[in-house]
Amino acid sequence: MKISGNTILITGGGSGIGRELARKWHDLGNTVIVAGRTLDALEETAAGYENIHPVTLDVAQPEGVERFAKDIIERFPALNVLFNNAGIMKYEDITASRDLSDATAEVTINLLGPIRLTDALIDHLKTRGDAVIVNVTSGLAFVPQPKASTYSATKAALHSYTLSLRQQLEGTVEVIELAPPGVQTELTPGQSEREGYMPLDAYIEETMSLFQQQPTPREICVEFVRPFRNAEKDGKVDDFMEMLANR
Ligand SMILES: NC(=O)c1ccc[n+]([C@@H]2O[C@H](COP(=O)([O-])OP(=O)(O)OC[C@H]3O[C@@H](n4cnc5c(N)ncnc54)[C@H](OP(=O)(O)O)[C@@H]3O)[C@@H](O)[C@H]2O)c1
Repeated sequence: MKISGNTILITGGGSGIGRELARKWHDLGNTVIVAGRTLDALEETAAGYENIHPVTLDVAQPEGVERFAKDIIERFPALNVLFNNAGIMKYEDITASRDLSDATAEVTINLLGPIRLTDALIDHLKTRGDAVIVNVTSGLAFVPQPKASTYSATKAALHSYTLSLRQQLEGTVEVIELAPPGVQTELTPGQSEREGYMPLDAYIEETMSLFQQQPTPREICVEFVRPFRNAEKDGKVDDFMEMLANR
């Protein structure tokens, strides 16, 4: 993908990985739109950055996604890059019958969200010539965290969807998967200070240097996540699952 001169939409741009990526892409000479449910947080991302534009969006609302996409294409006709980054993660006990509202929200936001937003923007992106879709999955797409079963399943499903998208869009739209390891953000409460997770600034720095390789790798995996990415091939899935279960 081009490194500068893009118009990039990043969902979940009001915090964590999305916020820091937005600022880095901005500083490389790109126009960036950050989208999420909390306007204050999006405005904080944009404060002091002339070309970061906050726009509210709830990826769980089908009509809202449609309206948002039409509005964004009208306001930013040069839009050529979509980062499907918004996501939520919940820990759950699946050994007894329970309230499934968290599980439902995870599927709706983490899986249906990218499917819906991609669908709403694909006809526009195809006209651009230099379009890119980046889907943010996780190391947990390749080795599930048993205590975050639905979350892990949504990321495995998004990995699969991304493979199909890449194959179907070959020659038209570049499709990249960004699979972070555990990173110190507030994805789950207290995670930004939890040991064993990668510091956010180090994660962003390594990720941005991978994005700048030409051609851009189709999977952006920092060193820290590669053992998870390769676990199946290396016969390590059971070992890593046991480690995660005891965390
Ligand atoms: N940090 C990690 O360890 C890690 C590891 C692997 C993958 N990831 C993935 O990386 C992505 C970013 O996570 P993060 O770590 O940066 O956590 P984060 O700071 O919690 O970011 C998630 C963002 O998604 C937004 N979001 C949630 N639900 C939304 C909805 N319905 N519509 C629009 N936006 C929504 C949130 O903003 P609002 O609540 O204001 O909408 C928030 O800004 C996620 O997809 C996550 O699964 C993270």
